[in-house]
Amino acid sequence: MSVSLSRYLVEKQRAKGHITPELRLLLEVVARACKGISHAVTKGALGGVLGSAHSENVQGEVQKKLDIIANEVLIEANEWGGHLAAMASEEMEEIHVVPNRYPQGEYLLLFDPLDGSSNIDVNVSIGTIFSVLKKTSTGSEVCTQDFLQSGRNQVAAGYCVYGPQTTLVLTVGDGVEMFTLDKEQGSFILTHENVQIPHETQEFAINMSNMRHWDAPVKRYVDECLAGTEGVRGKNFNMRWIASMVADVHRILTRGGVFMYPWDKREPHKPGKLRLMYEANPMSWLVEQAGGASTNGVKPILDITPTSLHERVSVVLGSKAEVDRITAYHTHPEH
Ligand code: AHG
Ligand code: MN
Ligand code: MN
Repeated sequence: MSVSLSRYLVEKQRAKGHITPELRLLLEVVARACKGISHAVTKGALGGVLGSAHSENVQGEVQKKLDIIANEVLIEANEWGGHLAAMASEEMEEIHVVPNRYPQGEYLLLFDPLDGSSNIDVNVSIGTIFSVLKKTSTGSEVCTQDFLQSGRNQVAAGYCVYGPQTTLVLTVGDGVEMFTLDKEQGSFILTHENVQIPHETQEFAINMSNMRHWDAPVKRYVDECLAGTEGVRGKNFNMRWIASMVADVHRILTRGGVFMYPWDKREPHKPGKLRLMYEANPMSWLVEQAGGASTNGVKPILDITPTSLHERVSVVLGSKAEVDRITAYHTHPEH
């Protein structure tokens, strides 16, 4: 018998008290919003959703129409339920506090509404990434400071990948589950339980066009992979780069591998390209929950205390043995 996301969440709430009724509602609402985004993505040119919106977000990136549509879908779906205090998004400079006309809850929702924007118009997998925190301050006021908690404080995290299938991947701190959207029924069905990333891998993901800008430890790691059976690793490696973090991480959760978007010398003052709070943190928690590891090169990403909402970070995540090796190349380069 198939288990829907709704049933899974109800059972999680009942059996272990692992999630509160409010968190259950929140996750149901996020999943519903992802269904709406999936629908818009699938329509493509027929729905008039492709192309640029001719505007820029706070990070100076050109927004695609779908970046804005997905952001609106998520905000409208989540505003009125009474489960949230505020939201933060890659596409909004400031936090979005739940308007006074609705009841306020204690959860904080962060999202990258549309990840992999450069793939929208070329019909390659894209996704939505989300992270849920709990407001720690008391009182009805909510401000940016409430969001600046380390990834260890997440109470739920996940993503939805819009690919050949629409798949929602979720953790509430009790392992990782995957749910595939049954488009006829309109519900997400549990299709992979207790997802585990293999410790060893022979596949890496990095944008090789940046090689000349990399730092020595990353260059060393990739050079050793490229040397194959003739090098110190003694085995051949394969490479993949989809340019949608969601799709690259989905592959790693499915068959292992290591993903890197490291700091590089192009913009040395920036710690990396990817955003800590709504890209790296949720993905890092999923990967750790699936037995993998995640680091900025020197410490686990989940241990970083953010200082700003749109903070960037260097990211290495995936199969544990490879992530440990890359960490060692950073911390003990002499070995
Ligand atoms: P977004 O579309 O939300 O801005 O994120 C894109 C990110 C990430 O998904 C991907 O891994 C990376 O940017 C790709 O960057 P390059 O184009 O530099 O390879
Ligand atoms: Mn992104
Ligand atoms: Mn995005």
